[in-house]
Amino acid sequence: MEEKLRRINLHKKPNHIAVIMDGNGRWAKGKGMQRVFGHRNALTAIRETADTASELDIEYVTLYAFSTENWNRPKLEVDALMSLLVSTLKKELPEFMRKNVRVNAIGDLNSLPANAQRVLAHVIDQTKDNSKITLTFALSYGAREEIVNAIKNISKKVVNNEIDIEKINEKIINTHLYTFNLPDVDLMIRTSGEQRISNFLLWQMAYAELYFTEVLWPDFRREDLLDAILDYQNRERRFGKTSEQIEETNE
Ligand code: FPP
Repeated sequence: MEEKLRRINLHKKPNHIAVIMDGNGRWAKGKGMQRVFGHRNALTAIRETADTASELDIEYVTLYAFSTENWNRPKLEVDALMSLLVSTLKKELPEFMRKNVRVNAIGDLNSLPANAQRVLAHVIDQTKDNSKITLTFALSYGAREEIVNAIKNISKKVVNNEIDIEKINEKIINTHLYTFNLPDVDLMIRTSGEQRISNFLLWQMAYAELYFTEVLWPDFRREDLLDAILDYQNRERRFGKTSEQIEETNE
């Protein structure tokens, strides 16, 4: 495993990794258990992902914990996910402080249950000056909803003469998204063999490299993250340019 770590080129690492943590339900089912058992067993994977990123000085990790569409799941499962969120945030706060983790959240946070909003706001506030890594939880998040929300807020400013229509550009849109304080995504990982984006960070992933693995999220470990980063490093990110142009810039 440490051999994998040595192979990582520290000058070419992603700065922002986003993860669709998929496969909890299947993992539980495979063990003859309820779906919720899978969610409860997702925490080790979350910890190893954040710790490994931190060790590699990767500054941003964003996790898709609950989508706007997930509200349609059975109430029992939604409630279990919300209470898992609350208990995890409470339990992990001392660890976030010890590891210098800044916790952040994106999504329609007002739609979360009141106690989840409260605990989340507390953890975000307590960790706001931490600086090793920003761990963002996407909660009641949907990229289209995020874009609609941004358009509404920009439109209000246009109507109030705070923004001139002709001045609307990518930067202004960026600053009105939930991710206003995050850089673009470099690497997006989805577990469990599904190859979809599922309404996650559509704007922010415009140039992201996509990595799909068969591993189910509760089984995802440090080594799997290193595999994803090594794969990422073997790709050539051209941002619309030619290979030759990229080589010239590198030289
Ligand atoms: C996808 O697996 C996972 C989710 C919808 C929820 C993700 C939540 C966690 C990883 C744990 C809770 C998070 C925090 C922040 C404490 P699935 O249920 O869709 O799995 P399946 O595709 O196998 O059914």
